[in-house]
Amino acid sequence: MPLFRLDSATTSLILRAGIGAPPALVYWGARLCDAVTPEEITLLGTRQGGPGSADISIPSSLALEPGLGLLGPSGFAAHRGGQDWGSRFDVVAVAQDGRRLCITCLDPRTQIGLEYRIRLHAESGVLTLGCTVTNHGTAALDVNEMATACVPIPGRMTEIIGFTGRWSGEFQREQLTRFAGGYVRENRRGRSSHDAFPGVILCTPATTENAGEAYGLTLAWSGNHRVRVDTLCDGRVFASLGALMLPGEIRLGAGERYAGPEIVAAYSAYGLTEMSRHFHSYVRGHVLTPAMQAKPRPVHYNTWEAVYFDHGIDQLKAIADKAASIGAERFVLDDGWFGARRNDRAGLGDWTVSDAVYPHGLKPIVDHVIGLGMEMGIWFEPEMVNPDSDLFRAHPDWVLGIPALDQIPYRHQYVLDISRPEVSDYLFGCIDSILANHTISYIKWDMNRDHNHPGDHHGFPRSDAQVRALWALLDRLRTKHLHVEIESCASGGGRTDLGVLAHSDRIWTSDTNDAIDRQDIQRGASYFLPLEVIGAHVGPHHCHVTGRTICMAMRAGTALMGHMGMELNLLTEQDADLAELKAAIVLYKQHRVLLHSGALQRLDTPDYIVAMGVVAPDKAEALYSVALVTGHARTLPDRVYFTGLDPAYAYQLKLVWPVSSPSRSSLSIIDALDLCGAGALVSGDALMKAGLQLPLTFPETVMLFHLQAVRGNA
Ligand code: GLA
Repeated sequence: MPLFRLDSATTSLILRAGIGAPPALVYWGARLCDAVTPEEITLLGTRQGGPGSADISIPSSLALEPGLGLLGPSGFAAHRGGQDWGSRFDVVAVAQDGRRLCITCLDPRTQIGLEYRIRLHAESGVLTLGCTVTNHGTAALDVNEMATACVPIPGRMTEIIGFTGRWSGEFQREQLTRFAGGYVRENRRGRSSHDAFPGVILCTPATTENAGEAYGLTLAWSGNHRVRVDTLCDGRVFASLGALMLPGEIRLGAGERYAGPEIVAAYSAYGLTEMSRHFHSYVRGHVLTPAMQAKPRPVHYNTWEAVYFDHGIDQLKAIADKAASIGAERFVLDDGWFGARRNDRAGLGDWTVSDAVYPHGLKPIVDHVIGLGMEMGIWFEPEMVNPDSDLFRAHPDWVLGIPALDQIPYRHQYVLDISRPEVSDYLFGCIDSILANHTISYIKWDMNRDHNHPGDHHGFPRSDAQVRALWALLDRLRTKHLHVEIESCASGGGRTDLGVLAHSDRIWTSDTNDAIDRQDIQRGASYFLPLEVIGAHVGPHHCHVTGRTICMAMRAGTALMGHMGMELNLLTEQDADLAELKAAIVLYKQHRVLLHSGALQRLDTPDYIVAMGVVAPDKAEALYSVALVTGHARTLPDRVYFTGLDPAYAYQLKLVWPVSSPSRSSLSIIDALDLCGAGALVSGDALMKAGLQLPLTFPETVMLFHLQAVRGNA
C-alpha cells in the first residue's frame, strides 16, 4: 500500500496511491511531526462495515466514481452510449518530484484514464489539485460530470461558510451548520457569478478570524461550476469542486483528453485569516506575474460614474487635469468611446473609435493623459455584441443561443461565440489595433451578461469552450503586449476567481462605490484575494448605486484598503472634498507597498465594526483600518484587539486617517495618546492582549491606525 507524504511548514498531506487500487487522500491538515508515519495515520483511520450496508467499509477515492460502489455522491459520470459508465480508477503509475505527485489511473474495463496532478506548495502551504480524463477507447466518450477532486474533510469541521451575493453586493458570507446530505452551490451563468463565488470554507464552531481550524477550497475557473459538501450516512465528509458541464459538451474522441480546472486549497490551524494569508501567498507567488508584483499599483481615475456615455474631449481633458493634480497615475476611459455606443443599446462589438465623439481619434486624449504623466487605460467588453451593431448585422451567426429560441433580453446584448477562431481573431485584431496605435497600457475587460443559452450555431453547448477561449484570448494579447495590464470586470465582481486572475492583473470588485457596502464586500473578497488585486474606488458623494450620501473621509479611507482609484466627476466635487481625497492619495502612495505585500489581519469584531490590517513581513510596520459601519448599542464603541504584531516590539501608534480627530468629545483616547499628533509608544503585546478602546465617533467613520516599530525598542 504505497503511501506518499508531502509537507510544508504548516501542512501535511498523505495520499494512498498503491498500484491496482483507487487513489485516496488519507490526511490533509496540520503539519505532522517528522516521526509520524503515513502507515500509522492510515491504520488509525481503519473503518469497518456497518449494519445494513456492505460488509466492508468501502474506501474512498479522489473521484468517488460509480465503480467504487460507495453509493454516496459521485464525482465522475461518463458513458459511451449508455455503456462504460461504471468505471473504477486504479493507480497504474505514480511519479513524485519533491512536493508534486502525478498519479496516473486507468480503468481497463471502460478504457478511461484519470491523471491527478497534486502539489503542496512549500512557501504558501497551499494544496493544488488538477485532474485530466483521457478516453483510451475507440468510441467517443461523453463526460457528464467531473469534480476535479472529492476531498475528504475531517468530521469536526461542522460549519460551512459559503459565498453568495448579487450585483453590487458581492462576497457575502453565509454560514451554516453541516447537515446530513449535500450542500450544493451550482453556477450556470457562464462567468464565476456574483451569487456563487466558486469557493467554500469548512471550519469548527469555535473557529474565528484568528483561532481554530479552517479548510478553504476554491476552483480556479471562470465559468459554470459545482461546489458540494457532502455528509455521508457513514459520517465521512467530502468537499467536491469541479466545472459543470452541459449535456454532450465534453465528448472525447479516441485518445482525447479533458483537463478540469484546478482546485486551490488551504488549511489553517490558526483561524480564517491565516487561511487567507496562505491563499494570498499563493496568489503572490504563483498567480500574479513578477512584473505586477514589482510595480507599485498606480492610483486610478475611471470615467464611468463621472460621465457615463457622455464623452466630450474637452470635459475629459479637464477631468484628467484635475485627476492628475490630486495624484491620479492612470486614467481609464470607460464605456462609450467606440462605434455607435452613445448608450448601452448600440455599438457593442464595433471596436473602432467613434468619429462622432472623437473626430480626431483617441490620440488627443491619450496624448493629453500621457502629457500629464499618467498612464492610459481603456474599456472593452470583447465577448459581447449589441444586436444594433455593424458586427451583428454582418455576422448574426456569431452569437451564442439555442436554435429557434428567442434570446433572453439582458442589457440589450448577446454573447459572442469566442470559441470560434474567426470570432477570437476578429476581437484580437480590434484590440491589438487599438493597443498598437495608442500608448495604452491598461485594459478594463468587462463582461456584462450571463450566458442564458450557451449554444453555438450548430446547436452544441459551448460553455466550457467559452472559458478556455477567453483565457486564450487574454493570453494572446498579453503575450503580444507585455506591458499591458488587464482588469477582470463582469458588472463588478461577477468574474472573480483564481482562474481568470492567472490571465489578468486586477479584479473590479463591485459596481457599488458605496463605502459602507464596500467595507463588507472588500472584506469578503479578502478571504481569497490579497488587497492589491481588489479594485477599490472613491465614488461620488451621493452614491449612484445605493443613493446613500457618504462623506469623503469614509469613501477615501475605504478605497485606500485595496488597489485605490476614483470614479467621480472631479469637476463638480467640492474643493474641500478634493483636498481630502488628495490627502488620502498621498497616504495610499506612502503605504501601498506595505498594503500590497504585508500579511493580512482581519479582526474579530462586533458586527458594526469591520477591521482589517496588514503587517509587514518583519512586523516592523502595520496599517489597520477600523470602520464603524453603523451605530453601536452601548454608549461607547468596543475595543479592538490587534493581531499579527510582535509582542516584544514597541510601536509608535498614530491615527493617520481621517486627517483630523473623529472623536465627538474630549477627552478621548485620541487626545490622551496624542494619536493625531506625535502618537504614543505602545507595546505590541498590549495592543493585542488589552486592545485599544475606540473613541466615540459617528457611524460611517473609518479610522486608519499606523504602527511603526521604534528602533531601540524593537
Ligand atoms: C459594467 C462595469 C462598470 C462599467 C459599465 C460600462 O457595469 O462593471 O464598471 O464599466 O459596465 O458599461
